Amino acid sequence: MEKQKNILFFCFFCFVLLSLLTEMEGVEASARKGHRGVYGFRPTKLFVFGDSYADTGNNRKTQANSWKVPYGITFPGKPAGRFSDGRVLTDYLAKYLGLQSPIPYRWRKYGENKVRCGMNFAYGGTGVFNTLVLDPNMTTQIDFFQNLIKDCVYKRRDLRSSLALVTLSGNDYGAFLANGGTAQDLISFIARVVNQLTVNLKRVHGLGVRKVAVTALQPLGCLPRSTISNAFQQCNATENMAVDFHNSLLQQAVAKLNNESKGSAFVILDLYNSFNKVLKSKGEFLGSVTFNTPLKPCCMGISSDYYCGNVDGKGKKMYTVCDNPGGAFFWDMVHPTQAGWRAVCLALKSTLDQIN
Ligand SMILES: *[C@@H]1O[C@H](CO)[C@@H](O)[C@H](O)[C@H]1NC(C)=O
Ligand SMILES: *[C@@H]1O[C@H](CO)[C@@H](O)[C@H](O)[C@H]1NC(C)=O
Ligand SMILES: *[C@@H]1O[C@H](CO)[C@@H](O)[C@H](O)[C@H]1NC(C)=O
Repeated sequence: MEKQKNILFFCFFCFVLLSLLTEMEGVEASARKGHRGVYGFRPTKLFVFGDSYADTGNNRKTQANSWKVPYGITFPGKPAGRFSDGRVLTDYLAKYLGLQSPIPYRWRKYGENKVRCGMNFAYGGTGVFNTLVLDPNMTTQIDFFQNLIKDCVYKRRDLRSSLALVTLSGNDYGAFLANGGTAQDLISFIARVVNQLTVNLKRVHGLGVRKVAVTALQPLGCLPRSTISNAFQQCNATENMAVDFHNSLLQQAVAKLNNESKGSAFVILDLYNSFNKVLKSKGEFLGSVTFNTPLKPCCMGISSDYYCGNVDGKGKKMYTVCDNPGGAFFWDMVHPTQAGWRAVCLALKSTLDQIN
């Protein structure tokens, strides 16, 4: 119990630290706004590493529900490997930059003229370490990128006008807990995850990519997976405290990287605060959309044995889908809808303005 108290206190301390750092970042950002021309650059390519929050079709058709109906019903109209009813973070970031969404690594041979917008190396289900899926971890994803540079698919000049998006949404923690990791060991594991992530960020920048945007962990305790136990009413505060710890370590690591590199090459996309902003306001700041029951997912298995997209032996649907995915923030137990991602990206706009 004493130990638990200490952990809670530690997390609270980290939370305070995080808040302070966030405030400092805000001040710096507003000081910089007037100099957009000096610091700003317009990325011409987007390279993407990470997991299902960014994957647009790399994951395996035979394994992932993202290739099953009803995934993709809103966009592109059929399942296409995105873990959503439609667009995901990568698509909105590309749109914001005025680029086409980069082609998934797996499909690069079929889109030679599309490699000019960059490439998406993200695989749903992966983490910085090996997780519960067989797909390549982030290190291997960066290896793929490095090989393309060696083969001169991308040249130094291309990289200098490039942005990287790196997502890490918690699969390492899912695997850690599934493999019997305990709450006590979690704290040190979080530090290992952030250390590995930091190594990866540095490596991507070292390969020549000018700016690297990395996601802070979203409030895991607010995912439908966690809130289903209270009928999607309340986030799990304990889980969110662990998330705060991850994010505060990330914040420190990125501050250090920026101190070591010229021109603040690293930016955090704060999915923690942007998810919370949308969930708390039910998206009302967007004007046209409201998420009336923001914690409740649109697509759900009919029991805990089933996920969105699962069918039984006879092909009968074992899930339900809401009438209007555009009015739901979450699509399934862990992923936002297209409307959800759009709202999150609008909440991130001031951060995105720092990239350009
Ligand atoms: C990434 O995956 C490769 C291949 O499975 C493995 O050898 C390597 O140790 C993994 N990297 C990390 C950091 O876990
Ligand atoms: C919150 O999550 C923790 C860790 O997953 C779990 O042990 C706890 O029971 C959850 N709390 C509630 C109120 O659901
Ligand atoms: C930034 O770097 C300088 C010199 O390398 C060092 O003295 C300073 O403590 C660093 N600041 C942070 C916040 O890491």
